[in-house]
Amino acid sequence: MRPLIEVEKVWFDYRPEERPRAKWVLRDVTWKIAPGEYVAVIGPNGSGKSTLARLLNGLLVPKEGRVRVKGIPTDAPGKLWMVRQAVGMVFQNPDNQHVAPTVREDVAFGLENLGVPREEMLRRIDEALEAVDLPGMGERLVHQLSGGQKQRLSIAGVLAMRPDAIVLDESTSMLDPAGRRRVLEVMQRLNDEGIAVIHITHSAAEAARARRVTVMDRGRIVLDGPPEQVFQRDEEIRRLGLEVPVLAELTARLRRRGWPLPVTMEAERWVEEIWRSLSRK
Ligand SMILES: Nc1ncnc2c1ncn2[C@@H]1O[C@H](COP(=O)(O)OP(=O)(O)OP(=O)(O)O)[C@@H](O)[C@H]1O
Ligand SMILES: [Mg+2]
Repeated sequence: MRPLIEVEKVWFDYRPEERPRAKWVLRDVTWKIAPGEYVAVIGPNGSGKSTLARLLNGLLVPKEGRVRVKGIPTDAPGKLWMVRQAVGMVFQNPDNQHVAPTVREDVAFGLENLGVPREEMLRRIDEALEAVDLPGMGERLVHQLSGGQKQRLSIAGVLAMRPDAIVLDESTSMLDPAGRRRVLEVMQRLNDEGIAVIHITHSAAEAARARRVTVMDRGRIVLDGPPEQVFQRDEEIRRLGLEVPVLAELTARLRRRGWPLPVTMEAERWVEEIWRSLSRK
């Protein structure tokens, strides 16, 4: 299957003239996202996660190398709208991503730019609000929504454009646990329906929900794989100043002591393995 997004040998710096390449913000990054994937990206502050995210939908373009979305380079002339429509972004701060006073107008904004006819627009807005659990809230004022509702509204704005992928750049980090949970539920559902999710997060628990975890350090991808495998490198990940999900850490520690536990991120399965193995003894 053709990748949805291809990042090919990308080098990037905000001030390329001023710094040696060895210190650039992204250094020779190659990364592929398949249609419908759910990938978490973790890494220390300043490792280049947000920069990578902005390259995925053409907010930034590589200084060297290439980013392709559905085969089209993000710096191809005249293709920026297609790229932006295919890869939507939701940012960290719930309070500065909205452009209109009401919920409906806010979701409408991107569609107006795409030139979607009015009937179709109204239908898409209702569908998008439904999909993010804000049904019938079109007339509400954006500034009266909670932080979590605002983030779900941002997701609705992206969703109305019928994207192939949604990138969340720490989009849950300013929310309370309930708000966070609702956003994650919505994202899981959208992913189940085939939309690729790329979730940049500092939370190990959030990363553990993904089917793939990419770890960045100083502008490079240093680990990439299923969470079960990536988080078995617990010492390496902790050395970067990052959290390790507690089950992964316990498993890694027990395995180092010679207990050949299979690796899992699911609590029930983990308990089951321990239980079975103890009963055998
Ligand atoms: N607009 C900008 N202009 C100049 N330098 C920038 C800009 N944005 C980011 N940088 C620098 O680029 C590097 C990577 O930043 P980036 O925001 O991509 O990291 P990050 O992994 O998202 O970090 P965090 O976890 O803090 O969000 C940092 O050194 C940062 O200071
Ligand atoms: Mg960032």
